[in-house]
Amino acid sequence: MKEYSISGVDQAVSCIGYGCMQIGGSWDRSALTAERVRTADLLVNAALEQGINLFDHADIYCVGKSEKVFGELLKSSPSLRSQITIQSKCGIRFKDDPDPGLPARYDLSYEHIVQSTEQSLHRLNSDYLDLMLLHRPDPLMEPEQVAAAFDHLHSSGKVRAFGVSNHSAAQIALLQSYLDQPIVVNQLELSLLSHDLISDGMLVNTGVPATAAVTGILDYCRLHEIRVQAWSPLAGGKLFGNQHSAGTYIKSLANEKSTSPEAIVLSWLLRHPAGIQPIVGTTQTQRLAAACESDQVELSPEQWYQLLEVVRGVPVP
Ligand SMILES: NC(=O)c1ccc[n+]([C@@H]2O[C@H](COP(=O)([O-])OP(=O)(O)OC[C@H]3O[C@@H](n4cnc5c(N)ncnc54)[C@H](OP(=O)(O)O)[C@@H]3O)[C@@H](O)[C@H]2O)c1
Repeated sequence: MKEYSISGVDQAVSCIGYGCMQIGGSWDRSALTAERVRTADLLVNAALEQGINLFDHADIYCVGKSEKVFGELLKSSPSLRSQITIQSKCGIRFKDDPDPGLPARYDLSYEHIVQSTEQSLHRLNSDYLDLMLLHRPDPLMEPEQVAAAFDHLHSSGKVRAFGVSNHSAAQIALLQSYLDQPIVVNQLELSLLSHDLISDGMLVNTGVPATAAVTGILDYCRLHEIRVQAWSPLAGGKLFGNQHSAGTYIKSLANEKSTSPEAIVLSWLLRHPAGIQPIVGTTQTQRLAAACESDQVELSPEQWYQLLEVVRGVPVP
C-alpha cells in the first residue's frame, strides 16, 4: 500500500488507516467477551494483511472498549506495537461523566486532556501514543491549558505528535499560536458524499455561497503540512446499491475498472493531491479488502469530475 509521512511520526503511514470505532462491539459499559476479542483480532489482522499500519481510536469509542480490546491484542502480540502507528482522541465527554446528572460536553482542559490520554494508554497497554488528536473544538478551550497539557504529554514521552479533528483553519491557527508542538493532523468528515471541503473551492466568485464552516480548511492544512484524514470515507455505506442515485454510476465505473464500488469511492479521495488519508471503519473483513483495492485505482480527472457531478446532481459551475 502507498504510504504518507506525518511530521513527528517516525514511521511512514499507510495511505488508508483503519478506524477502530466499532471494534469494541457495543457502546455501553458491558465487559469485553472472549468472542469480541476474537472478532477484533480478525479485523486488526485483516487490516494488517492489507498493508494498513495506522489505527485510529478515541477514548469514547464503545465507551473505552475499542481501546481495551486493542490493548488485549497488543498484550498477546507485544512486537506489533513498534510496527504500527496508533492515534487516539480526547475532548468529548458523555453525559453523566463522571457524575450522574452532568451534561454531554466538550472538555479541552489541562486535567481532562492529560487524564484521558493516560487512561487511553492504560487501556491500550502502550507506553505511548504516536498521535493524540483533540476530537472536537471546545468553545470554552483556553489554549494555554492545551499547550501545558501537550508539553507535559510530550516531555514525558507519552505522546509523540499532536493533531486535531473537526477543526476549522482559524481554530487551528489560534491553537497553534500557543503551542510548542506542531499540529500535524486534522481529521474531518470527508467523502464523495460529504465533499464540501473539497468542492467549496470551486464556488469562489460564482455567486453560489460556500459553506462558511468549511471554507479554506483543506488549503490551510496543505499550506501548513497538516495531514488531512477523512472520517466516514465510505459515507457509512450510503452511496452503494440503491441508496443513492450515484450508486449506479459508481458500480458501472467499478465494473469498468474491475474493482469494487468501495474502492471507487475511496479512490476519489486518494486522487486529490492533498494526500488525504481515508480512515475506514467497516467491520467486515471482505469489505475492508474491497475498500483497499482503491490503492490500485487511478481515476482520470474526467472520471473524478464525473463522480462529483453525479453526487452533486449538477455540473460544475
Ligand atoms: N473524528 C471524528 O469525529 C470521527 C467521527 C466518526 C468516525 N471517526 C473515525 O472514522 C472511522 C470511520 O468512520 P465510519 O465507520 O463512519 O466510516 P465508513 O468507513 O465510511 O463507514 C463504515 C460503515 O459503513 C458501512 N458500510 C460501508 N460500506 C458499505 C456498503 N457497501 N454497504 C453497506 N454498508 C457499508 C459499514 O458497515 P459494515 O461494518 O457492516 O461494513 C460501517 O457501518 C471510525 O472508525 C473512526 O475511527 C472519526
